[in-house]
Amino acid sequence: MGVSMKRFIAFSASLLALAAVCSASPSSDMEKKVSALLSKMTVEEKIGQLFQSDGEANGNARPEHFELARKGLLGSTLNVRGVKRVNELQKAALESRLAIPILFAFDVIHGYRTIFPVPLAEAASWDPAVAEEGASVAASEARAAGVRWTFAPMVDIARDPRWGRMVEGSGEDTYLGSVFAAARVRGFQGADYSAPGKVAACAKHFAGYGAAEGGRDYNTTDISEQRLRNVYFPPFKAAVDAGVATFMTAFNDLNGVPCTANRWLFTDILRGEWGFTGFVVSDYTAIEELVKHRIAKDNYQAAALALKAGVDMEMVSKLYSGNIQQLLKDGNVSMKDLNAAVANILRVKFKSGIFDSPYADPAPEGPALLTAANLAAARRSAVKSFVLLKNEGDLLPLSGKVERIAVIGSLANDRTAAMGSWNGDGQAEDVVTILDGIKARAGDKIRVDYAKGSGPDDQEGEDIRAAVKAAKKADIVIAVVGEGPLMSGEAASRSSLSLPGKQSDLLAAVAETEKPVIMLLMSGRPLDLSWTPYRFPAIMEIWFPGTMAGPAVADVLFGDVSPGGKLPVTWVNNVGQVPLYYNAKSTGRPYSQGNKYTSHYFDGPNAPLYPFGHGLSYSTFSLSDLSLSTGAVRQRDSLSVSVRVTNTGAREADEVVQLYIGARSSSVTRPVRELKGFRRVTLKPGQGEDVQFSLGPAELGLVRSDMKFAVEPGEFAVWAATSSVGGLEGAFSVIR
Ligand code: GLC
Repeated sequence: MGVSMKRFIAFSASLLALAAVCSASPSSDMEKKVSALLSKMTVEEKIGQLFQSDGEANGNARPEHFELARKGLLGSTLNVRGVKRVNELQKAALESRLAIPILFAFDVIHGYRTIFPVPLAEAASWDPAVAEEGASVAASEARAAGVRWTFAPMVDIARDPRWGRMVEGSGEDTYLGSVFAAARVRGFQGADYSAPGKVAACAKHFAGYGAAEGGRDYNTTDISEQRLRNVYFPPFKAAVDAGVATFMTAFNDLNGVPCTANRWLFTDILRGEWGFTGFVVSDYTAIEELVKHRIAKDNYQAAALALKAGVDMEMVSKLYSGNIQQLLKDGNVSMKDLNAAVANILRVKFKSGIFDSPYADPAPEGPALLTAANLAAARRSAVKSFVLLKNEGDLLPLSGKVERIAVIGSLANDRTAAMGSWNGDGQAEDVVTILDGIKARAGDKIRVDYAKGSGPDDQEGEDIRAAVKAAKKADIVIAVVGEGPLMSGEAASRSSLSLPGKQSDLLAAVAETEKPVIMLLMSGRPLDLSWTPYRFPAIMEIWFPGTMAGPAVADVLFGDVSPGGKLPVTWVNNVGQVPLYYNAKSTGRPYSQGNKYTSHYFDGPNAPLYPFGHGLSYSTFSLSDLSLSTGAVRQRDSLSVSVRVTNTGAREADEVVQLYIGARSSSVTRPVRELKGFRRVTLKPGQGEDVQFSLGPAELGLVRSDMKFAVEPGEFAVWAATSSVGGLEGAFSVIR
């Protein structure tokens, strides 16, 4: 063999070797690191990585944490936060035999110290960039305080406003929820959650938690697989596709198997079908609760069920720590089960960068919190989240003729309420109240009187008279009513949706004054507004607006900015209509006025008070020129839809163009309308914009009786609209 041939072969071999090294996918390098560390660990150390312990509410670690850390038996904590506290405990962990760092977690749901509007409010912006920015700011502040992992985004679809946790998600619609799930994961994690200012995210609560029977938190759920796959799963899948680092189990029993023991969910679906490679954490003591579910006769069996289901880390309860050694000896779990769980956790720890930089940046977190930029972002987000439900006679924005305003309702002056539930490390003293925001904006030109009147916790109504007195002297009344911050969120289910306390009495008394009333609703869910929509000319849902509540409300009331939010949930008239959601199926006897034998209540309204997707602005808009790229699209192809939106009013404002489809027939019943696209646009008076959408297999298909996703040939309606009712209608066919 000539020299040249030998050289060629040698050269080729080196090329192949180089290729092999370079092509070693990052994941294989990662797997080598994980395996190498795993091989050094004792069984006790492995079990230690599966344990997450809670710190004190104020952020302090507990004394026992330090000893556990030094033994390498504390994989993670929740609530421990603050550079000093985190680094002290991390130091103890790095003194352990293998120096595996602790992953510090915290519920950074809608802000760390700068509190953004609650997630349902951000969803009401119908602008994913709002949610992404909110999550990004939250991550930057949390990371500065030593937090490396947040238990967010919550992506549970919620169709029952009795369920308090509706406030934590993106509402009732699968498509909207999926878009916002991905946006929040991007915001928290960026492209690499080890990067400065980023944290690992957690898609929760898998799965079906929002379907708790009766809207009672933690209650049983029984959901067909087809509905799980068509309605509840997609936002979780969107989070996986966005690269979410972790998942959290849901408390509920799902079709007879509690989620925390549900192998079908966490092994078959999450890892088997979706290819998830992060780790799963139980919800708070949820593994121990398997005994209360009566699916496990004792802690020993509960630990086995959870580990074999694919739940890697145990939050707070200690069944893994207390039983896995014995389970291994008895052969009821295998070393393979244990190693898989530990590997999943180590993989995320490596990706989070805590092996390379285990300590929080030693600089005190203070300067990174509540920055002007963060507060400005929170203010913009709040403004975009407000939903103007009604504005008769264009009462809003406040006219220049107003000289005296009466602000009533204790929520107008309630700093804590403005932050809502899950308010992270938010401090009440940081909040600008609605009252202060109005006063600051009114300046000395307009007199602003405040009278508490009543509030969500007031059962006496003793201050109503003073509020009526203030109202009588004013040109206009701004009534801030709604729920207290803990009347929604976890363990806050309600059997009624009425205004709590004596707020209805307050409103009735003020209505007697015949003064114009602007009703600002602070709530985490739609409320039963009873007679007020028919008496009060202006109603705006402001949700729980966060730290910058006051300036944001003032921006909109005084017309510096137009509101443009849309409802992410159907607004029922009363709790008797629940569940009521826009993407309902036709039924064989769809409701029709006057026809007794159709699906309806004969003793009350059947339509919602305000439909999903509804929201007004200070301008008017028209839709025109709906056009489709084709009238017939093949099952595997896409068609484009274009519609022109024009600002036909007198001031700059936003509109959300929404695209819905409706299959005329299908092999399994489908909703009459399904949201499949939306765009929030800002237009000046007279300005128009052509908005484009694409409808392809992902939008047109569904999971059918065979549990397979498919696009079915058939006739479809398509609507371009500004709410889930009405709009410009078109039609197309899907052909083979
Ligand atoms: C709670 C919630 C969960 C939260 C966790 C840690 O019970 O269900 O959403 O992230 O415990 O606080």
